[in-house]
Amino acid sequence: MIEANQDVKVFTPAQAYWNQREVLRSMRDRIHALSDAVDNKSDLWPYQLSQLMAAALEFKPEVIIELGRGKGNSTCGFTEVANHIRRQGHRCDVVSLCISEDWEQTTQWKVMEIVERDWFEPLRALRGNILTFDYDSILKGAKRCLVFWDAHGFDVAECVLGRILPKIQEMENLIIMHDISDGRYIPPETSSYNGQRLWRGNDWSGPRIRLGFMDSSVEQAVAIVDFTSRNRIPFDSADHSINVEIGSDPVKMKDMENVLGDLFNLGAHWCWFTLNDAKGPLTFPDFQADVMNDHLEINITEQTQIMGVSLNNAVLSQPDLVEVIQRVNRYVKMEKPKLAARIVERELGNLNEKKDILAKLGNTDSEETNKTDQNQIMGIPLKADVTEAVKRVNRYLDIGKSALALKIVENELGHLHESSEILAKIQNNEHVASS
Ligand SMILES: C[S@@+](CC[C@H](N)C(=O)[O-])C[C@H]1O[C@@H](n2cnc3c(N)ncnc32)[C@H](O)[C@@H]1O
Repeated sequence: MIEANQDVKVFTPAQAYWNQREVLRSMRDRIHALSDAVDNKSDLWPYQLSQLMAAALEFKPEVIIELGRGKGNSTCGFTEVANHIRRQGHRCDVVSLCISEDWEQTTQWKVMEIVERDWFEPLRALRGNILTFDYDSILKGAKRCLVFWDAHGFDVAECVLGRILPKIQEMENLIIMHDISDGRYIPPETSSYNGQRLWRGNDWSGPRIRLGFMDSSVEQAVAIVDFTSRNRIPFDSADHSINVEIGSDPVKMKDMENVLGDLFNLGAHWCWFTLNDAKGPLTFPDFQADVMNDHLEINITEQTQIMGVSLNNAVLSQPDLVEVIQRVNRYVKMEKPKLAARIVERELGNLNEKKDILAKLGNTDSEETNKTDQNQIMGIPLKADVTEAVKRVNRYLDIGKSALALKIVENELGHLHESSEILAKIQNNEHVASS
């Protein structure tokens, strides 16, 4: 429980939109390109993305916690901002939490086509449950935190209000809630029940709830009225701020339209508050879910690099390579460079980057492996120069295809006096493997 911090700079969404309009203008192509790459504008329109980016640019958080990544509109917007803030020499990390696989399966690869290699650096995209994440681990030392609340339901609401907010109450904080519209700025006919039953919880089937100015279909609309009422914290919509502070000023309106074009809109459909506005001690709901360490970090660098050698371009043209890179990296982590080198030779042999990777994996090791490969099958040295066939046999043995290995030995090495010994070894090995 704390007393309100009176020294915090006043923030409003409209001020941020206005103050950051030139920065947004400089990012306009990038904003559109990212939005196109995500390809899910109905989750967040480019003008909303611009408003959120303006808020983050203005607030300059050291940590942005994104709750709900989905396909990743906000992930892209905040990461773009974090890069901008970092270029100015300040800390800004984006921690993105979501259960969905859309980012790692689809969006990040499309984004990779339009951004610089280091663009992903400020972003930690984690796949896992918001309810069980270890928030302490990302807040260490942070003085300013922005929470973007875009995952729905009472459980997430309880986690935000009962677990995350207590941890950031003593730092400067800004909490932005998406999917809450402002009844004062949407068409009057939206007040009608329109024949729908009462809202009883969100199932996206249509019913919405009106609470004061709020018009929403998501549960956190209820939870936040409760929370901000108990704590007497001001709570308002970005729509109100933008309409009052910009919409009522013809000069500003014109300027915003000129500078931002379609990235300017008076509508926002998001709300905001800060605990720094509390006038007294704060109270939070109880939240007891266990913290788990099972959140999977989606690291695009790991997925496109082997030992620092970038395969970005190859991955873009052959997305299947991601799986190969993952296998190589697994062997590198397990300190099995010979196995890693074999996969590189076998499955990435056509790439220009192959040499660099093999060199990094330890040239001597991999050469030794090759020499052995070229002279031995299952430990049996061969005197004749049958390098190419031996290589193929060894490859098939490596990937567990002993029947194919046997065939090559029979057909192509049958003339060697070592061949019967090799055949016996392979057959024996097969027998052991299957029994
Ligand atoms: C509306 S989408 C997010 C949209 C995104 N912010 C954007 O700008 O494109 C909400 C996401 O939150 C995820 N979600 C909901 N509850 C969750 C939870 N408990 N843990 C992790 N993710 C959750 C959903 O799976 C969904 O992908």
